[in-house]
Formats: sequence, structure tokens, C-alpha cells
Amino acid sequence: MCGIFAYFGPQTNPLEIVIKGLKKLEYRGYDSWGVALKTNNDFLIHKEVGKIGDFSFSDLQKIFPISNSQLPIIKIAIGHSRWATHGGVTEYNAHPHWSKNKEVVLCHNGIFENYLKIKEKLIKKGYTFRSETDTEVLAHLVEEYMHESNFENAVKKALSEIEGRYAVILISKHEDKLIAARRGSPLIIGKNGHDGEYFIASDIPAFLEYTNKVQYLDDDEMVIIDVSGARFENMRTHEKVNKRIVEIEWKVEEAEKGEYPHFMIKEIMEQKNTLYRAINQSAEKIHEVAKAIKSARGTFFVGCGTAGKVCMTAEYLFSKIAKRHINVIFGSEFKFHQDFLTDKSLLISVSQSGETADSLEAIEVIKKLGGRVVSILNNEASTMARLSDIVLPNKAGPEKAVASTKATTAQLAICTLLAYAMVDKLDEGEKLLIKTASQINDMLNPRYEDHIYKLSEKIKSAENIYIIGRGLNYPMALESAIKLQEVSYIHAQGFAGGELKHGPIALISENTPCIALVANDESKSEILSNAMEVKSRGGYIIGISPENAEVFDYWIKVPDCGNCSPIVNIIPVQILAYQLAVMRENNPDMPRNLAKSVTVK
Ligand code: G6P
Repeated sequence: MCGIFAYFGPQTNPLEIVIKGLKKLEYRGYDSWGVALKTNNDFLIHKEVGKIGDFSFSDLQKIFPISNSQLPIIKIAIGHSRWATHGGVTEYNAHPHWSKNKEVVLCHNGIFENYLKIKEKLIKKGYTFRSETDTEVLAHLVEEYMHESNFENAVKKALSEIEGRYAVILISKHEDKLIAARRGSPLIIGKNGHDGEYFIASDIPAFLEYTNKVQYLDDDEMVIIDVSGARFENMRTHEKVNKRIVEIEWKVEEAEKGEYPHFMIKEIMEQKNTLYRAINQSAEKIHEVAKAIKSARGTFFVGCGTAGKVCMTAEYLFSKIAKRHINVIFGSEFKFHQDFLTDKSLLISVSQSGETADSLEAIEVIKKLGGRVVSILNNEASTMARLSDIVLPNKAGPEKAVASTKATTAQLAICTLLAYAMVDKLDEGEKLLIKTASQINDMLNPRYEDHIYKLSEKIKSAENIYIIGRGLNYPMALESAIKLQEVSYIHAQGFAGGELKHGPIALISENTPCIALVANDESKSEILSNAMEVKSRGGYIIGISPENAEVFDYWIKVPDCGNCSPIVNIIPVQILAYQLAVMRENNPDMPRNLAKSVTVK
């Protein structure tokens, strides 16, 4: 989703900092970008369609040579990477946007839901619009109010009229001031040790090389940064808000690719360690959550995309291990179930980023009804974390590839722990997970990658790939399809093995690759029979299984990890998806049309 970056401070190269920051936000997914620099009495603005790629500050200098004498002592520059919602992918629609007389320049993430009404009003007043975006209305509206008031008050008045979820940063031609506001989309302020140097971004890695001291803007809050410092205010009441400075412990390297060509493979390989970290939960907290589930009248696991498939796996884990039914609802569908909910309902939100708008909406729904919220989160400092009664951290470290890998297996591990804790067998769950973690460590070696590479070579031109699983591995068949679709762009679909004969088997023709996710459990003989049904119709069977079977045309061995089979079975698919993406010359870290953190509904 859109990325926002702003710099305020004394450094002489503000645009260089902004361009670097935008590059660090690239993983969020975007289709155009732009930057704006405040000069003594104007703005320099540059926008482009496509990726920033190798574009650098020196390229910008060729477009508009910038001399220091043009710049005020305090440098202010903003930048944006846009994931189109309102209006096509064009330079006009790219941000920053500016007002009629270029008094105000801004960047925005999210959607101004009532923009059409405001646009009509502004058109009647003689404003014309350069773009098709919802964003541009705010620039004009602020300028309109600046006729009667200063920049800061005009922003406040304009924002009080705007409906929707957003993060926005604004600058004005005549004041050395940076204003940012949020309602629903993330914005984090970085404060450097140097006096008066501030960064604002959608995510911390964008400015982590300059400072690890951050202040989180919460919903309905704004920050006004000027030479006297940063003032935080509630946007509705205009009361002052005191913000804690949080020191981030991530190391810069954790958010970098290091020796790996892509984040996706780096993050897949990190699963050698991340599972150990995920298991290292406070037993007290796990028991507290188990107790909350037992006493709730209805527990709802909620997630989107891959996290949604983890929720589906949790349903099987809870049924098998805890003998307990839990409900699973995708974030975007949750509100349609609200008639069943009460203040005794419990929502367990599973999310890597903790910023997914659909999951946040589910939390809003349950909170309104007085229900409790537990979150399983990788980003402990996210909006979701702040809205939750209990947070179980994934501890996977920053995940930057759009396709989730290490966060997924960490989420699965925590759901497994919870299921065991429900029947007072947390120790047993921990032991199983520790064994699984050590087997993953052994499995992830170059020979293993080579073996999957040979398969990737064989199937790289396939038009369709089907994945089947049963029981615990049925949701992982769906997750496998997501992994393959999002980075290889091969049409992939997952099915419950038993469902094939009710329709999908008609899709199988000569040599259609079909991956069978097999676990050494009660589902084994049936999933092998389903694989045989596919093979009899010409399918090419790839078995991901602890043991070889006659039906497999290609076998990828995984350790036998009992109830942790979803964790080990998904890893070879992650590697396969990555390799197919690279072979097909796709960028696995930034797949087309997708965003890492989906902050719109
Ligand atoms: C996007 C990402 C997926 C992710 C989903 C939910 O669609 O591309 O990889 O699973 O959002 O994100 P979350 O941060 O809530 O886990």
C-alpha cells in the first residue's frame, strides 16, 4: 500500500533522504511515486509512474538543479509511493498533490470517503482538479481555509470535514512546518538525537538508519512539527497528547537483504531460527488466552490473506488437539457476522503487520460490542497491538517480502501452542515445536533448495498448479495456492483433497502439476488416494510428505512433525514459489498489484 515519508531538519540533502526512505518502503507495493521539496518560497515537485528503481538524488538534480541558497535553514521534504485506488496509475494521480496556488502540498495514504461531496463544493468555488484522486480535495480545502486562517488551523478545519481512514502529511509554502495526521493508516515519527530533526514514515525501517527513537501516532491524532519541536494533539478535541518515545530494538541489518538476492528467500531461510523465537512465549500469557477462549461465548479467529489461512489451520488444530470449536472469519467478512456477537465474544486477530484495514475493522466491530481482543502479531508496535487486550508477539523480525513466510510459520506455531494450552498440555506443545524447529533447521540447506529447483525447472511453464490437502493441511493447500499465485503468477488453486471429485478434477489434464500435502496422520491414506485420482487422469503428482509413495512423480521430503505438519509442509512450497518467480523473471519481493500491508478496505 502507499508509503509516506517526510524529513524535517537541518541536513542539506533532504531529497536524498526522502528518496532513500521511499526505497525502503518499496516492499509495501506501489505503482508510482513522487517527492516534494520546500524551497525558500516555492516547492520543487517530481513524480513518476513505475518503480523508483535506480533513480537517485543525482537524477533529480539533473531535472531541477538545487542549490543550497534556494533552501531554507530548516529543510522540509516529503515523498510518497502510491498504490492506486482512486484514479489510474498516472503521473497526475501520483502524489504529492498541491493546491490551486501551490500554497499547500501533501501526500496521503488511505481513502477520503466523502471526497466527491467536498470536490463538488470546491468546484463551485472555482477550484479545478488536475487528478482523479480523492487526495487532491484536501490540498484545495486547506488552501481555501487559509484565506481566513493560518496553515495549522486551516489543516485542522479541513480534516474535521474529511471522512474515511487515512494518514496524511502536509506542508505549506510560507511556513517551516510539517503537519501529519492519522485515522486508520500507520504513521510513525522518528526523532533524531540531533536537535530538531524528525522523520515521518509509514513504517520504521524507512528511517531506522537515522534513528531508533520513535513516537507512534494513534488514530485521530496529529503532530505539528516546527523549529520548537513536535506537538501532538487529538484531532477531535484538540487536547494536547503526551507521546512516549519508544526505542526500537531492531537492527538495521534485520530490515536489509544482506547476502540474499531477495527478501523473500532471506525470510524463508530465517525460519531456521524464527520458530524458536515464536515458541518463546510467556506461559502465563498463553494460559491467560486459553482461559479467555474457555470463558468466551464464541471465539473468532480473524485474519486476511495468508493470516486468514493460518486462522483456518487454527480451527483444525483446536478441533484436533483441544477438542474445541473456534470460528474463523476473514477480516473483510467479519462485520457481516456481528448479529451473533456479544460482549462475551472473543476475537483473536492474526496479522503480520497489525495494520490491515479489514482486520482492524473487525476489531472496531467487536470493541463496540464490548468483546475482548487478543492479537497474534509480528509488529508489536502496530495499531492492532494498541487496540488489543492481549498481544502474543510472533518475534519473526521485520518481514519485508510481500509474500508472507516466516511470519506465517510463527503464527502457526503460536496457534499450536494455544491449542495445547487449552488442554493443559503446553509443555507437550512446546516440545513438539522445539523438535519441529530443529528439524526445519536441518531441512533448510542448499541441497534441499537444489532438489526443489529441479522441480521448479520442470514446472516453470505450467499454466495451472493445483494443491490438495486434508485436515490440518487443507488450509495449507489454500495458502500454497496464494504463495504460488502471488509471486510466480501461475494460476494456482488449493482444494480439500476430498472435494476434487465433486468438480475440480475436471480441470486435470495431461501433466497438470498437482501438489499433495501429506501428513503422517489419519488423513494420509485418503490424500494419497486423492493424488491417485489425479494421476489416473494424467496429473503430475508432487508429494510433500515425510515418506515417499508410489503415486508421487516427484517427492519432496519433509520431517514427520505430527501436529506441526502444516508448518513443515508449507516451507517447500514457499521455496518453490520463490524459485518459480525468479525463473519467470518476476520480482518476488514486489509482486505486481499486491501490497504488503493492505491499509484500505
Ligand atoms: C496482504 C499481504 C499478505 C498478507 C495479508 C494480511 O494481502 O500481501 O501477505 O497475508 O495482507 O496481512 P497481515 O499484515 O494482516 O498479516
